[in-house]
Amino acid sequence: MRELALSAPSGSSRIMLGESIDNLKSYCQGAGRIVAITDRNVARLYGSRLKGMDVIEMEAGEANKTTRTVEMIYQKLLDLEADRTSVIVGVGGGIVCDITGFVASTYMRGLPFGFAPTTLLAQVDASVGGKNGVNFKGYKNIIGVIRQPSFCLCDFDTLKTLPDGEMRCGFAEAVKHAAIGDAQLFSYLEGNWKKAFSLQRTAIEKVVHDSLLVKMRIVSADESEKGERMMLNFGHTIGHAIEKTTGMPHGEAISIGMIAAAELSVSKCNLPKKDAERLGALLKGIGLPTRLDAGGDRDRVLDAIRKDKKRHGEGVRMALLEGIGRARIARVELGEMEAVVNDMC
Ligand code: GLY
Repeated sequence: MRELALSAPSGSSRIMLGESIDNLKSYCQGAGRIVAITDRNVARLYGSRLKGMDVIEMEAGEANKTTRTVEMIYQKLLDLEADRTSVIVGVGGGIVCDITGFVASTYMRGLPFGFAPTTLLAQVDASVGGKNGVNFKGYKNIIGVIRQPSFCLCDFDTLKTLPDGEMRCGFAEAVKHAAIGDAQLFSYLEGNWKKAFSLQRTAIEKVVHDSLLVKMRIVSADESEKGERMMLNFGHTIGHAIEKTTGMPHGEAISIGMIAAAELSVSKCNLPKKDAERLGALLKGIGLPTRLDAGGDRDRVLDAIRKDKKRHGEGVRMALLEGIGRARIARVELGEMEAVVNDMC
């Protein structure tokens, strides 16, 4: 097992890589009641291993990342008489982690909480960083908090039951981290992603570990996203718009978003064309989409971009690449976005 430590203004996290979910309870030591929040699918697979915990189940899926689910969980916490001696643990993918972090940060003005992410996407990204929110009226993560979990336990064995499509989505975020902050990890992924995909131990551990190092470095420097943290949004401005309008899974949508951002990077940040091609080749090799198919509704994608909460005037501040492993924030005009979105369709 390897351990990482993240320190940020809202709190510190211990991140255990390669730890068994069976040891989850030992990280909640000294607590009163331990309440695990999970979804129906994860409960079916791992519920029997959450010994000594009360379990609250939510419905799976992005459609349930809502204030309604939050209310349901508040009510169950009240029924269980959870109080300030309790610890809350989210066991599941990114949606479970987001809901758990939000609920735990607001119930009784905040209880200690941790995560046991069971998807690759949650292990390399969603469980770490402290942003936890819910969707509201079609706006993604529009209501939320920033508060670091006390711990995050990544059991690689839980990835064995993950469908290939979900593994690919996790790889999209790992590629993003490599592209914005670690050229060596990018090269490693080019040569070894198949080994990591098949969960060869040293390969998956390196991908999760190095990916998290990029994220942790950025979050520690700029937890509240005043500047540098915006680099973690590489591929997300256009990706979120695609996700919202096509219903495509998050990782697939940001794969296309990264290709679009790389195109903009070539024209605006002198990203060498061959670096943009390397990004495209890696994502394609992993089996992620790099273009919108004919079903993608150009106008609705553009409309969603215009409504993006990060929009400033007629432009958007976006993370772009200067090279593999180097990113910066640049202002992109809506007209420039329109041109690449047109290209992608
Ligand atoms: N919880 C994910 C993040 O803070 O980026």
